[in-house]
Amino acid sequence: MLAALAQGGADSVIAEQLTISCGRFPAEHELCRNAAVRWAEARGHEVRVLAAPALSDERLALYQELLEVGAQRLDVLEIDIVWPGKLAPHLADLRPYLAEDAEDAEDAEDAEDAGEATPAEAAFFPSLIANNSIDGRLVALPWFLDLGLLYYRRDLLEAAGLDVPQTWRQLADAAIILQDGQRAYGDSRFWGFIWQGWRYEGLTCNAIEWLASWGGGTVIAANGRITVDNPDARFALQRAGDWIEIISPHAVLTSTETETLEQFAAGNAAFMRHWPYAWEELNAEDSRVRGKVGVALLPKGGAQGVHAATLGGWQLAVSKYSAHPELAVDLVRYLTSSEVQRERALEGGYIPSRPALLGLSELRQQQPYLGLLESADLTLVARPSTVTGAKYTRVSELFQNSVHAILSGATTAETALALLAEELELLSEAGSFR
Ligand code: GLC
Repeated sequence: MLAALAQGGADSVIAEQLTISCGRFPAEHELCRNAAVRWAEARGHEVRVLAAPALSDERLALYQELLEVGAQRLDVLEIDIVWPGKLAPHLADLRPYLAEDAEDAEDAEDAEDAGEATPAEAAFFPSLIANNSIDGRLVALPWFLDLGLLYYRRDLLEAAGLDVPQTWRQLADAAIILQDGQRAYGDSRFWGFIWQGWRYEGLTCNAIEWLASWGGGTVIAANGRITVDNPDARFALQRAGDWIEIISPHAVLTSTETETLEQFAAGNAAFMRHWPYAWEELNAEDSRVRGKVGVALLPKGGAQGVHAATLGGWQLAVSKYSAHPELAVDLVRYLTSSEVQRERALEGGYIPSRPALLGLSELRQQQPYLGLLESADLTLVARPSTVTGAKYTRVSELFQNSVHAILSGATTAETALALLAEELELLSEAGSFR
């Protein structure tokens, strides 16, 4: 795509400066910067690539501040899969800018039902395009998708003669055995299972997985009904609370993705819940656990439960206040192109948002979780952001507060979820979000 862009381009245009904010972690920021600079050089423009806070909640606060003052200096933003409803009023509708192009048309041949969509949109997962369409406006193009996964120390499991756990019960049992074993060797910092328990969006992702795995729903159903106060949800959360100080350190209650990854990469845990990009980091040349890690679906609740994974992922949007919307969309199209997504998948482990790329054998060989994504046993769970729209972040905060109070033992699941249901009711319209 860039080769075509570059032909006859650079000399004939007036150089503009565009600003993009992208990349949550240094390695991801670097990938984004390299691609954006390539685009700018080929087009004869300049691009400023700003890092954003790693925590999604902090990034949202920053973007909201900038967008609310109509800041013209931010052209392209990387937004979480749960934000389109919240940020839509400040984002440009990309649809009028998306003309057909040969590459997209090719990708789209595989898309089953292109419907009314232009080929440019049809090359992406339809559910992600639907997620990013607010009142008929396409406010972002999907960049990559995420799903919650179980990472385990294959070497330790094999040495102990244990199978990869299929249920939370089996995970707790294996975690205890491995933890006791490592501690017997004097490794007092070793824990069975680590995850993201700080009060932030990551906790919502973990807790939705627990709920869904036990059949306890997703807090608010797709039809807008508040479902969180149910026996399976109570059981799921109380049980997670029981892990604290037994298989999970008290410190998980202040852990985000960064701390859990550091701890697991340092060889201090048997199991970890994390996103796909962790795979690349754990297998990096300087990693202490390189070649010793396996990845699987998260355990199911019980015999009746399911292997649930929260659907995450990031999108690229153009600010409505951008002084150069056409150029900004052009940059977004390049960054979400097959060429850049393939590079990001191979170098950073980011799962492409274009289904046509998932079949590439080079990706499959390197990334075992691509097979898991297609497993018939996987239940991919969306957070209730579409149905709650602009209210989603408040819903998520209330949920995090309740879950954190249960995990830290400040209250019981029974009390916390009854209260949460009342709070959500007040936030809703007449008891429903639809
Ligand atoms: C990952 C997911 C994102 C989620 C966040 C929570 O970045 O892709 O959707 O909100 O984690 O920490």
